[in-house]
Amino acid sequence: MEERRQRYLVTSALPYANGPLHVGQIVGAYLPADAFVRYLRARGEDVIYICGTDDHGVPITLRAEREVKEPQEVVDYWWTHMDETFRRFGISFDNFSQTSRPLHAGVTQLFYRKLKEGGYISEAESKQMYSPSEGRFLPDRYVEGTCPVCGYKEARGDQCDNCGSWYEAYELIEPHSKVTGGPAEVRETTHLYLDLPKFSDRLREYIAGQNHWRTSVKNFILGIIDGGLEKRPITRDIRWGVPVPEPGFEDKRFYVWFDACIGYVSSTAEWAERIGEPDLWREYWQEPDTKLYHFIGKDNTVFHTTMWPAQLMGCGEDGEEQFVLPFDVPANEFMNLEVIVDGERRAMQMSTSRNLAVWLHEALERFPADPLRFYLSSTLPETGDVVFSWRDFQSRVNNDLIGTLGNYVNRVLSFTEKYFDGELPRPENPSEEINEVFADFKALETRFDERMMAPRPRDALGELLAMGRRANRFFDAAAPWKSRKENQEKAREDLYACCVLLGSIAYHMAPYVPDAVERLQGFFNGPVERISDLEGMPEEYRVTGAKPLFKRIEDPEIADAEERLARAAAG
Ligand code: MF3
Ligand code: ZN
Repeated sequence: MEERRQRYLVTSALPYANGPLHVGQIVGAYLPADAFVRYLRARGEDVIYICGTDDHGVPITLRAEREVKEPQEVVDYWWTHMDETFRRFGISFDNFSQTSRPLHAGVTQLFYRKLKEGGYISEAESKQMYSPSEGRFLPDRYVEGTCPVCGYKEARGDQCDNCGSWYEAYELIEPHSKVTGGPAEVRETTHLYLDLPKFSDRLREYIAGQNHWRTSVKNFILGIIDGGLEKRPITRDIRWGVPVPEPGFEDKRFYVWFDACIGYVSSTAEWAERIGEPDLWREYWQEPDTKLYHFIGKDNTVFHTTMWPAQLMGCGEDGEEQFVLPFDVPANEFMNLEVIVDGERRAMQMSTSRNLAVWLHEALERFPADPLRFYLSSTLPETGDVVFSWRDFQSRVNNDLIGTLGNYVNRVLSFTEKYFDGELPRPENPSEEINEVFADFKALETRFDERMMAPRPRDALGELLAMGRRANRFFDAAAPWKSRKENQEKAREDLYACCVLLGSIAYHMAPYVPDAVERLQGFFNGPVERISDLEGMPEEYRVTGAKPLFKRIEDPEIADAEERLARAAAG
């Protein structure tokens, strides 16, 4: 019986192209999505996995000015850096684009035109700081002055670091440009606005209908909608960004949050072009039975559940470009770091500016991708904040990945090779114990499946470890080292069953440690698949040249990694 394949479009938040990736980002939006996608692919579903860099926004122009470079140079550098790091870590995007590419500008402008035709765009005047000596408007982060509330001299454009007050930049006393130090003045400026309130009813209905979302998330978003949405400015007085196709707006650009999520669409279009089927992106974005998943960090939730669905709804109004809405927006919480300060272990907030972070490319210089992926998968912040700890990394890898899973694989394969010449035919009448362990495994596979599809890859990993423990228990009870002398046939049959379990374990391990499973396939010549009925199982297994899959993590390696963090904290 051929089951119909479900179409999935999975995205990870587009990272800003202005610095290296750290593990907090990885557990938020990338690793859970990658495990989910690898699992869907293995099941034979129709899935594409889309991402790219978010190239616009003030932090990027600030960095470019500091480095005396063009913004394009900065984002190209970080795109290459991230692309390489993601590859080494095994993140299996089907496409990794950039929002600074021309195709993206075209798609953004299409969204804008459709929204305008639908009557969702308006124009309004507002006040903005202007620097006469530079001849340009200044984004809030470019302005400094004296706090109107407490008198602090170096207050930022939108908020005072001393007293915490929020204000408009033009309320600052003696405002000046942060770049030149020269005075800044208030000027009137015109911007375009997206009329979010017009979407309130449809957004409420959409969110209320997402019965598979967590109630707390639903209620939080519904509260925001009921509290009243406001018109959102979608342009800025800046030079770096997507050009606005309106006369009079030549010196302005779209605001980064208007075009960022559209990057999911343009990256899909780029993928379709690259594989030679330029219209295929429409199937994923516009066929109503697509399941669209956006994996994000929790700080992006409101945006992906209000403004972005509104953009998608408004664009499809005329029936020509009708988009699906997100089926799920899995949002992860934050990751803190365990750091040794004055000989004591403490959980501290990551600080990228203080270099108090575990950068993914640095971690990959110390350890292979698989153990890092395994540890991070076991501590994904699915339900609350978590703490990254090198010591936990060592114990999870040595005890769970190697102790439970790797050792099982080794024991079964080396035993088979050593005493049975690596050959195990299928038993005719499996013992009761074999039928029992197969039944237990099928139940664990179902539990794994439910958790992975939730999607909760961390919880699913717990079921994988349960499979490992169950398989080890079967091997220990079968005791083939004894039975091979007393009852050679029974030993052979039990080892056959062990190989079936091994194929299932490998299948469920692959989303987390794909490199190891690929190596395993080189010497375990049996299928990597779920348990099926006896007739569906291989006629025989042939094992040759088995090697251990993982290397233990030693104390000095951990001490060195911990010291690097301790230095940054003391720094
Ligand atoms: N670059 C932003 C961030 O990292 C937004 C990511 S999601 C996007 O927070 F798709 F909207 F770009
Ligand atoms: Zn203040």
